Amino acid sequence: MRSTTQALSVNGVRLMQRIMALAEVGAIDGGGCNRLALTDADRDGRDLVRSWMVDLGLVVTVDAVGNMIGTWNVGSGAPVMTGSHIDTVRTGGKYDGNYGVLAGLEVIETMQDAGIEPSRPLAVGVFTDEEGARFAPDMLGSLVYAGGMSVEEAHDVIAIDGARLGDELERIGYLGAMPCPGAAPHAFVELHIEQGPLLEVNGVRIGAVTGVQGISWQEVTIQGQSNHAGTTPMHLRRDPAYAAAALTVFVRELAGRFGGHQVCTVGKVDLHPNLTNVVPSRAVLTLDVRNTDELVLQRAEAEIDAFCSELAERENVAITRRSLARFEPVVFDERVVSMVERLAAARGNTVQRMPSGAGHDAQMIARMCPTAMIFVPSHKGLSHNVAEHTDEADLVAGADVLLDTMRELAEMSFS
Ligand code: GLV
Ligand code: MN
Ligand code: MN
Repeated sequence: MRSTTQALSVNGVRLMQRIMALAEVGAIDGGGCNRLALTDADRDGRDLVRSWMVDLGLVVTVDAVGNMIGTWNVGSGAPVMTGSHIDTVRTGGKYDGNYGVLAGLEVIETMQDAGIEPSRPLAVGVFTDEEGARFAPDMLGSLVYAGGMSVEEAHDVIAIDGARLGDELERIGYLGAMPCPGAAPHAFVELHIEQGPLLEVNGVRIGAVTGVQGISWQEVTIQGQSNHAGTTPMHLRRDPAYAAAALTVFVRELAGRFGGHQVCTVGKVDLHPNLTNVVPSRAVLTLDVRNTDELVLQRAEAEIDAFCSELAERENVAITRRSLARFEPVVFDERVVSMVERLAAARGNTVQRMPSGAGHDAQMIARMCPTAMIFVPSHKGLSHNVAEHTDEADLVAGADVLLDTMRELAEMSFS
């Protein structure tokens, strides 16, 4: 049967079983997961998802940066694609990324069970290293898939633990043969937990995501002089720990001054030699600065530049910086956003339009085809945290909206 008229709903029990089974891979205390990209745990998670793809009769391909795509080869033309990632931060939850991948499989299995074939293939992508927590930038796999970074450059990225991305892909058996950039899908829609508090606070079940804010990551190295903590007078110190703290306070206050969507985070600080009685010689920290408005993001970056120059001079330290990621804000395709909004409401869900605060693979694939995202609430707005939680009813409702959206996208043409 080829029609979008027959109402269908996903099998929530099966969806939850897969989510919980994948969460066992790399499970950590508190109910979360540690599957940093291209580690053994990531490989084991990929193997499990691949086995489910094979069980559904999908054609599974792996490309030169390890993106794994499972395609239900029915109908004709470019596929309607969904997907996300299964790598996690070191202290990640069960749902970030995983939910979108597994809901994609559930959509396909639901249609297969009902004997309903879409007019186009449906594909589920598992994109490599979305988190960027081990290898920067974030969304690396989808960026390469969309042609925004070469395979060679991606392979040469060095991890926080010193490993080379290309070597790790080979080591875990996911250095695939498919070339990048990949083929453009007909359309792309990604289902994800919100990872923020807005839907829950507003009592709304579905977010129709209008776009993703811009992201600027940099690594800051502050070089001072190592010296004795007891004997070195305060006015003679060249103290990178102090400078790192001053920069941390500066970006926090900048976010407060700018207001609106401005957020700034220092998520990683390393001191050397990191000893109680030694003024450190070096601090290395990361800045994560985001805004929905590119011009405001540029203003934030300019203020940080100026502050670093002033700080280096004032504290007699050398400050060098390296960009780890820089992505402009992305606006999703209005046709797909309004489709999500309409289809979510048609199922009786409350729905609101909203931008995404987090980065997502959809923001890269949006370069290739009409794209949007669907959000469901995150309990207490917690994510990148083992306590990340979304109620089952919300997870199932989101998967139903994904089902309806993929079915409709498969029957429509964009002109
Ligand atoms: C990616 O998940 C990010 O938003 O940091
Ligand atoms: Mn994610
Ligand atoms: Mn994440």
